[in-house]
Amino acid sequence: MKSILGIGNALTDILAILPDDTLLRQYHLPLGSMQHVDMETGDRIWESLKEVGVKYVPGGSAANTITCTSIFGMPSGYIGKIGNDELGQLFKSTMEQFGVKTTMLLSPKSSGRCMVFITGANAERTFADYMGAALDMGPEDLKEEYFRGYDYFHIEGYLVQNQDLIARAVQMAKAAGCLISIDMASYNVVESNDAFLHNLVDKYVDVVFANESESRAFTKCEKPEDGLRELSKMCSIAVVKAGKDGSWVRSGEEQHFIPAWPANPVDGTGAGDTYAAGFLYGLAQDLPLKTCGEIGSIIAAKVVEVVGTKIDIPRWREAKLEIRDLIDKCNG
Ligand SMILES: Nc1ncnc2c1ncn2[C@@H]1O[C@H](COP(=O)(O)OP(=O)(O)OP(=O)(O)O)[C@@H](O)[C@H]1O
Ligand SMILES: [Mg+2]
Repeated sequence: MKSILGIGNALTDILAILPDDTLLRQYHLPLGSMQHVDMETGDRIWESLKEVGVKYVPGGSAANTITCTSIFGMPSGYIGKIGNDELGQLFKSTMEQFGVKTTMLLSPKSSGRCMVFITGANAERTFADYMGAALDMGPEDLKEEYFRGYDYFHIEGYLVQNQDLIARAVQMAKAAGCLISIDMASYNVVESNDAFLHNLVDKYVDVVFANESESRAFTKCEKPEDGLRELSKMCSIAVVKAGKDGSWVRSGEEQHFIPAWPANPVDGTGAGDTYAAGFLYGLAQDLPLKTCGEIGSIIAAKVVEVVGTKIDIPRWREAKLEIRDLIDKCNG
């Protein structure tokens, strides 16, 4: 089985259900808002939350994808940066529990976190992010040996806030002979790094994952299928995703529309990350383009059925059976 290395912002999602909005008021977090907080505030909130009882899940787009490829059975590695603290250790050990070989770089800053506070009868959500150590990863942190032996290298678009880091990473990955994939992350990431991303995709990237708004921002094409065509001129494989309306995959002149796999959706978080994992898992077995997209759709349909980004064991089992059927059919 081919192996995959991912790089991304190592962030832990912290979910806290609060009895009232006292804590929000204490930290000046308007109800329902999304705020960036500094290290001191981030650490103080975290200390107060520990008393309340919270749920932690290591997250970040590439980390989600890599966890998923590891569960699929691909040898999977991850590069990210954490602080010398409890949250960082938790991130590392959880990734390792899923079989991921981690290269966790250390920063003097505290580990990055996305805090979600749920309050009131309507379960209103208030967000506070502290990126901390994750944002501290730089090109000087990377070593050629980290890339050696891997077949695929996967980048999350959120990292392009540090263009020098990505530039060095793709050079090292190419030198190590990796196929390079990128998930475009978000349309505003694409808009604010337009020239850099075009150059990156044109020169280095083999597989591009974009949703409709990212494709529109990148290609300036209104229709996803037009965007797909434009994207595919710049790389070997282009994927444009449209949520419950499915996805398109294209390589050269070969193109397929993949309907979404049936699901009872409760929370869309992680759909894109797991789709990428399923697609790359298919590619790693040299399956046809259409089958790769179908595997992505099957696994993404499972993650939208759970709250958060971790698919439960029964759904993993179901997905693996459905994927095996698909591969059997494909092998005739
Ligand atoms: N409600 C749904 N039901 C079934 N499948 C879904 C649903 N939502 C998403 N998917 C599957 O997940 C794929 C990717 O979802 P989406 O287009 O939302 O990507 P994304 O915008 O990158 O997601 P994310 O918000 O996780 O970054 C879709 O192409 C589809 O196959
Ligand atoms: Mg996405």
